[in-house]
Amino acid sequence: FLIDKGNHRHFMAKEIHEQPEVVGRTLGHYLDMSSGHVALPFELPVDPATLSRLTICGCGTAYFSALMAKYWFERFARLPVDVEIASEFRYRDPPLDPSGLTIVVSQSGETADTLAALRCAKGKGQKILAIVNVASSTMSREADVVAPTLAGPEIGVASTKAFTCQLAVFAALALAFGRARGVLGAKEEARLIGELMAVPGLMAQALKCESAIEGLAREIGKVRDVLYLGRGAAYPLALEGALKLKEISYIHAEGYAAGELKHGPIALIDGDMPVIVIAPKDAVLEKTISNMQEVAARGGRLILIGDENLARDFAGEAEASIIMPEFPADFAGMVYAIPIQLIAYHTAVVMGKDADQPRNLAKSVTVE
Ligand code: G6P
Repeated sequence: FLIDKGNHRHFMAKEIHEQPEVVGRTLGHYLDMSSGHVALPFELPVDPATLSRLTICGCGTAYFSALMAKYWFERFARLPVDVEIASEFRYRDPPLDPSGLTIVVSQSGETADTLAALRCAKGKGQKILAIVNVASSTMSREADVVAPTLAGPEIGVASTKAFTCQLAVFAALALAFGRARGVLGAKEEARLIGELMAVPGLMAQALKCESAIEGLAREIGKVRDVLYLGRGAAYPLALEGALKLKEISYIHAEGYAAGELKHGPIALIDGDMPVIVIAPKDAVLEKTISNMQEVAARGGRLILIGDENLARDFAGEAEASIIMPEFPADFAGMVYAIPIQLIAYHTAVVMGKDADQPRNLAKSVTVE
């Protein structure tokens, strides 16, 4: 069937804007909204209650979705998680429990290193669950169970909607595992599902920050380096934000755990380099706020992504604030992904770069 850009200049813009819909669709595939329970559309290949450890492998953006999932599996299911870059995992001869579970996560389902990680884990007796967007892919065929992301075809080389749909699947799985392991009660599960169901609407609200981001992008387009900071589940988003910006604008960017600021990157703070702080109202916000103060105290260019209260508190210190809606932050990563993606996209556009077809990158990397 025909895939077009609709009213957008690039597929990437279209795909960013599709997210409320496709994340809603993906969540609907895994949750029973009327009962407030997770309703996985497949049998898990292992009983989560018997697992002592979970391994998740991916590359690029998919790897960052797995990093965020670790926070959720640990918190909601009290399950230790190893998140692995597929190309490291596969060559390391990792010791794996033969009755354990490996999750591979991939938009294309064809990435050579992730496929090799799947085969490596399978060869050691692990069961494989594949979170993939392309249903007919090799990973889908070789996995024991396929958990589809229902993002639809993703054309922009830099992944956007596949990422947030991966997060949606991981969130549902983490809740299912939490129930199976006796960590989450029915009431807690229903509360968290209520939060998940609100995510697509919150993403739609987050998209309203686009015009503010267009202004910001004109400034970012002039710099050489950008630092992204995040703490807790916002840390993987800092990594993803830096990756997106590098991929399509060719500006050097780094993502850092906010607590690591003092162990190195603080030396880089000056009046030139924007420091983008991803600061949802979660349990570690107070700690992130102290990092923001450290940046401001050193004359850094503080750009904050947070809710209105935070923006008000930092009105004097921040060069720009991207305002997000206020909501319980358990699954804030999906909502805060939107400004992260828009910053990269609009920066590439103001710089005259082709956001859909960045140089040297391929949508699906089937070489090792
Ligand atoms: C390429 C793409 C990235 C993607 C990565 C993994 O490098 O440019 O956007 O995250 O591959 O792809 P996969 O299809 O496995 O998710």
